[in-house]
Amino acid sequence: MLEATHLLILGALLALGPPLGMMRHGMKYIPMVAKGCTDPIITLNFGFLKIYVVTSPDMMNAVQRQSKVFSFGPFLDFAAERLAGLTGKTLHAFRTVEAGGQGLVKTVMHASTPFLAGKSLDKLNRDMFSAIQPMIDELATKESVDLIEWVHYAMTLAGTRAAYGPMNPFEAQEVRDAFWEVDRNVSPLLMNFLPWLTARKAYTNRKIVLSAFIEYLNKKGQNQACDFILKRYQVLSEAGLSDPELAQNEASVPLALLSNTIPATFWVIYTIFSHPDLLQELREEVEQNAFKMVEGECVVDLKAIREDCPLLISTFHEIMRKGSNPASTRFVMSDFTLADKYHLKAGNVVILPSQVIGRHEKAWGPSADEFNPRRYLTPEPSDHPDDPKTVRRTGRFMAFGVSAPICPGRHFAASEILGLACMLMMRFDFTPEGGEWTPPEPHTGSVLAATGPVKGPFNIKVKERDGFEGKPWRVEIGEGKGLFPC
Ligand code: HEM
Repeated sequence: MLEATHLLILGALLALGPPLGMMRHGMKYIPMVAKGCTDPIITLNFGFLKIYVVTSPDMMNAVQRQSKVFSFGPFLDFAAERLAGLTGKTLHAFRTVEAGGQGLVKTVMHASTPFLAGKSLDKLNRDMFSAIQPMIDELATKESVDLIEWVHYAMTLAGTRAAYGPMNPFEAQEVRDAFWEVDRNVSPLLMNFLPWLTARKAYTNRKIVLSAFIEYLNKKGQNQACDFILKRYQVLSEAGLSDPELAQNEASVPLALLSNTIPATFWVIYTIFSHPDLLQELREEVEQNAFKMVEGECVVDLKAIREDCPLLISTFHEIMRKGSNPASTRFVMSDFTLADKYHLKAGNVVILPSQVIGRHEKAWGPSADEFNPRRYLTPEPSDHPDDPKTVRRTGRFMAFGVSAPICPGRHFAASEILGLACMLMMRFDFTPEGGEWTPPEPHTGSVLAATGPVKGPFNIKVKERDGFEGKPWRVEIGEGKGLFPC
């Protein structure tokens, strides 16, 4: 079983990146070390902790097959304590059974995940797009805007309105600002060493978000929340948690909901608009398959985006593959030998870095470093995982992590991002102020986001496209499972 010190050290590694290479380069150190290395697994030795970096799709497969030996559980415990700030008996209730707790963290995840698909997802999507529509309409009245700020504002408000309902704690700007302060200053919080002193910004802002959640539960706001949030509340209250204890945990959920989605949205919009030929092709694809005029109203059809716009979906996957860098982390629960050769010792950590595995020649061959929006189009789709033609082979798409636990919110995220991107590209022309599409600076403080958070401003000129000026718009959500191929 993992000891607390190991978690502390992992926290230190992830948060501050000590010894040498890690200190200098942070998590980028891992792909740097792995580059050119032919071993399918390499060991970074930090004295009392070893990090086993898996570099090949085959070895990742072998790790995934042993989910009891290589467990995500301790990471959940780590997050419950350091991100949510749980203590005492609440922390004990959430801790995984393997770590001596009651396992509530896994119970609630298991019970609520089905509500991020099917009819519950359709409703979530419908609420999200009806919330964001007035903000898009308002954009049409502007000549220029800071795209980074706009995406933050619109997606934070619309995503949380859909999730939390009419009493959404994020309606108050103070709460939205506090949330993003936590997100951008989270590293010292993960260290969990006198957080009120060493992680002052994140700690005080987390309190603001927490107070808003306590008030939300006092007003029974959860009764009008989406099914996913409501189910979480039901499971946790049936387990005996009081509202303040429950709020303490739930106040960290928006980190999953927003931290990755918003930078990803920015990059999808940026990439599509900065490639004029691609933009033209995507507009044609959407116009033919996922767009209609209904009594003078312009309608973008989300179900058709999912089912009939393969170039758009492939472009989304490629932007995520190239631009995001999640490194799924597993803890070694007992000594294990992989491929009869690699001895992994209990108490250490395995990392599955997408930047390395997703660019391995076994995954994509020599073209892996190129941006190719057609990469995920396959002439002859195959269900067989070993068929070289299939786009679903191990390691080819890891932006939402790898099972288990692959991101349960990925279909909602894809719906939000692609529905908005379609609406914007069909309705507007965007030109960067100064004429050049120059990528903005990364925001290095947001260590939880693997999708490339950036610092603003990024000012663009906004113009409604010829022929679409002044027209009303909406996104239509057709019934279905709501599932994207990701
Ligand atoms: C572009 C947007 C998103 C990206 C790139 C993303 C990525 C990820 C990744 C990489 C993981 C960890 C998986 C692993 O370690 O293997 C994860 C976990 C998770 N994500 Fe997302 N995510 C996104 C949006 C969302 C949204 C919108 C939700 C909304 C509910 C969500 C909910 C979660 C939850 C609850 C977990 C924890 C799963 C567990 O512990 O079993 N995510 N996500």
